[in-house]
Amino acid sequence: MVRVKTDSPPRQERKPLHTVVSLLLLLSLFGCASHAQKDVVFMHGILASASEFDYFTDLIKQHRPGTRVYAVNMYEGFSSVLGLWEQVAGIQDKYGPILSSTSSDGVVLISYSQGGIISRGILQSMKHNIETYISLSGPLAGQFGDTYYLRFLFPLFIKDNIYRLFYSDFGQDISVGNYWNDPHHQSLYRNYSTYLGLLNNETFFVNPQSKEFRQNFLRLKNMVLVGGPDDGVITPWQSSHFGVYDANETVQPMEKQKWYQNDAFGLKTLNKAGRLHIHTVANITHIHWHRTKMVFDKFILPWL
Ligand SMILES: *[C@@H]1O[C@H](CO)[C@@H](O)[C@H](O)[C@H]1NC(C)=O
Ligand SMILES: *[C@@H]1O[C@H](CO)[C@@H](O)[C@H](O)[C@H]1NC(C)=O
Ligand SMILES: *[C@@H]1O[C@H](CO)[C@@H](O)[C@H](O)[C@H]1NC(C)=O
Ligand SMILES: *[C@@H]1O[C@H](CO)[C@@H](O)[C@H](O)[C@H]1NC(C)=O
Repeated sequence: MVRVKTDSPPRQERKPLHTVVSLLLLLSLFGCASHAQKDVVFMHGILASASEFDYFTDLIKQHRPGTRVYAVNMYEGFSSVLGLWEQVAGIQDKYGPILSSTSSDGVVLISYSQGGIISRGILQSMKHNIETYISLSGPLAGQFGDTYYLRFLFPLFIKDNIYRLFYSDFGQDISVGNYWNDPHHQSLYRNYSTYLGLLNNETFFVNPQSKEFRQNFLRLKNMVLVGGPDDGVITPWQSSHFGVYDANETVQPMEKQKWYQNDAFGLKTLNKAGRLHIHTVANITHIHWHRTKMVFDKFILPWL
């Protein structure tokens, strides 16, 4: 908004055309500056660090010089396995002023892998000012699969029995437990899942903040979801698009989920308003999303 002071009478009459031209000049100056005023915040994945974003940071510097980039450098390495509410609180503590800043021309939050489900916690539990959220292969509706990470972190378990660990008070202090979504033990999930269950408002216990969570989520203008069938880690890979296994381990899209149908956290509203952008990209394995120029060009650059 450009405010023109009108309380003192003008000393001299200005030609209207002159005023219009100066206004246009002023606006175009603001317009040019706006590209330089975006803030980008990046949230890394499990067992990883802020440096995951180095490649894209370089590309942003080339294409959008002046953009301020903040790659979250907390909960790196093994501390990425800590409980997610703890991580979300710590990140909001340090990055809150950036995530809720109104001084920039928009905050863009980008996440990769586990960073996606952390971002859901951030988006739903604070009065942020994030304009665009971009998720690269995040387990947004949970994870249920034997992967390298699971075998590495929990060698004594397989996907069919690890619910015994995860669906307990102890298991909810582990990040993967927070988004473990076992289609064969949904009542245990709904009894114990203090993170994904709460974000989806599908727990047996009530989230007294569910309406606030929804309002916060809808502060987003656009949500961009990127994932694909050759990912190999996010299981089912459609979780990157809010898809979930049913009891037969057949993937059901978000539209079939109760939390979508009752718009429990605002996803349906976002979608109906054309603010949800879903992209499927084949031939990209999990560790390559944030190292692929095409991903940057197509799904990140246009939003900066
Ligand atoms: C549900 O969770 C509570 C602890 O939060 C526990 O005491 C209770 O036994 C659980 N019920 C089932 C069926 O697991
Ligand atoms: C699972 O498949 C069986 C047999 O194909 C079917 O009868 C049942 O309704 C399916 N269950 C779900 C939850 O889709
Ligand atoms: C969350 O679930 C509770 C209990 O089922 C319900 O009363 C509440 O309205 C839901 N919140 C939202 C935002 O839909
Ligand atoms: C798949 O990706 C690999 C390596 O990134 C590339 O060499 C190959 O051409 C791609 N194949 C297709 C069908 O796009």
